[in-house]
Amino acid sequence: MNFRIWVFTALVFTLSPVIAGKSIPEFDVPFELGLGKSLFEENCGSCHGTWGHGTDQGPPLMHKLYVPSHHGDESFHRAALRGVRAHHWQFGDMPPVPGISKRALNKIVPYVRWLQRKNELY
Ligand code: HEC
Repeated sequence: MNFRIWVFTALVFTLSPVIAGKSIPEFDVPFELGLGKSLFEENCGSCHGTWGHGTDQGPPLMHKLYVPSHHGDESFHRAALRGVRAHHWQFGDMPPVPGISKRALNKIVPYVRWLQRKNELY
């Protein structure tokens, strides 16, 4: 292999975890949001990602599209309780989240908002 290509490849491999790590910031979650965080991870994380950055099953909620001025808290409740027909993305429909309650959502949504602010989305 050409030496320059080798050096380039080695650099990319060395740096990629750093770059990947940077693209999903993790935060110290305040105590009062801890329950919201674990409920989010349990009920939403499999599709929207542990830190809300999306997976191959669902879109990032850490996205301008989902800040309060575009998707109010009510739309989070509606999405989780009734599901969402695919319209913004190509992931397919979001099914209603099994066993989710308004009480749980009252913990989840403030956590998501806090995370959106930490990600400087609004
Ligand atoms: C099985 C996968 C899956 C799970 C679990 C899931 N979602 Fe979704 N969610 C999706 C997909 C896919 C979309 C994108 C639909 C589209 O194309 O607009 C979506 C969209 C949304 C939207 C946007 C709604 C709108 O009106 O456009 C919100 C808000 C949302 N999800 C919140 C949640 C919350 C909160 C949870 C956990 C309580 C959750 N989701 C769990 C897959 C999921």
